[in-house]
Amino acid sequence: MTTRREFLIGTGAGLAALGAAGLGRGQDPERIWPTAEIIADSLDQPRDAPFVVSTWNHGLPANLAAWEILSRGGPALDAVESGVRVTEADPEVDSVGYGGRPDREGHVTLDACIMDQHGNAGSVAFLQDIMHPISVARLVMEKTPHVMLVGQGARHFAEENGFQPRNLLTPRAERDWKEWLKTAEYHPWAPASDPSHDTISMLAMDQGGDLSGACTTSGLAYKMHGRVGDSPIIGAALFVDNEVGAACATGVGEEVMKTVGSFLIVELMRQGMSPAEACHEAIARIVRKNPAWRDLQVGYVAFDRKGRIGSFAILPGFQYAVMDQEGNRLVDSPSWK
Ligand code: GLY
Repeated sequence: MTTRREFLIGTGAGLAALGAAGLGRGQDPERIWPTAEIIADSLDQPRDAPFVVSTWNHGLPANLAAWEILSRGGPALDAVESGVRVTEADPEVDSVGYGGRPDREGHVTLDACIMDQHGNAGSVAFLQDIMHPISVARLVMEKTPHVMLVGQGARHFAEENGFQPRNLLTPRAERDWKEWLKTAEYHPWAPASDPSHDTISMLAMDQGGDLSGACTTSGLAYKMHGRVGDSPIIGAALFVDNEVGAACATGVGEEVMKTVGSFLIVELMRQGMSPAEACHEAIARIVRKNPAWRDLQVGYVAFDRKGRIGSFAILPGFQYAVMDQEGNRLVDSPSWK
């Protein structure tokens, strides 16, 4: 009997995918399988605008807020900002904004970035006491000649523009941090303690066919004070090119930064890969270089101008939310392991 794996690898599509993945001589053939698997992903089909994708299950309510704007013909930029603000304000999400887990010194420090259809970008890093870093990032993009503001400078800029400072450390996050302090064991390479969520990254195409993206996080729980991850780095956690498509990341930011993952995915799509193939290759770059990959989670989601959506992660468990004319649903990403 022909197995599903044999069938996929035996088809033209499967063989094309293997070529695209760049499998070299001597590489473990087991690693072929994830690429073949993604060919069967039904999301890898063209779809009409508008649509929005976002990382993890907290993407579902975020997508609804974005959809309110997209469905009445509003711009993708407004949609992604509005969408991720929902997550930033949710105290139950302990990896983003208010309610986010602090660094090892008990400070909640936030990173965010945003990018529009013209290639404009804004970001903030190591921002404290401001509930909506994504909106500050947007103002950096729109009101300053710069792309990135950090720390006290970012906070001053936010306050000058009307953002009210407030304590973002919720009682629950403080209690968990104090519990963590008893051992202070730190495994920055591991997935979040609850691997069902992490950074929210969101990408949208509006009715006019324009693309935008946003990303916002409180970063790795109990990180070193001053640590900044991939989420505010344009090209790492997020990249948008209106002519090609958009990509975003979640997971251990150091791995995403070292491989400039989202930019890589968009460039691979420009060269002809599907979003799924490009995400797979970006994950392959991490896996090939880092022998500790089995303990690392990184997930990518991308789409191209045709509306084909793809994803890939290192470890099982990564999910993303898609909302289009068919509704809002959570999708399991294929993974390397
Ligand atoms: N991807 C979130 C972080 O590493 O901070």
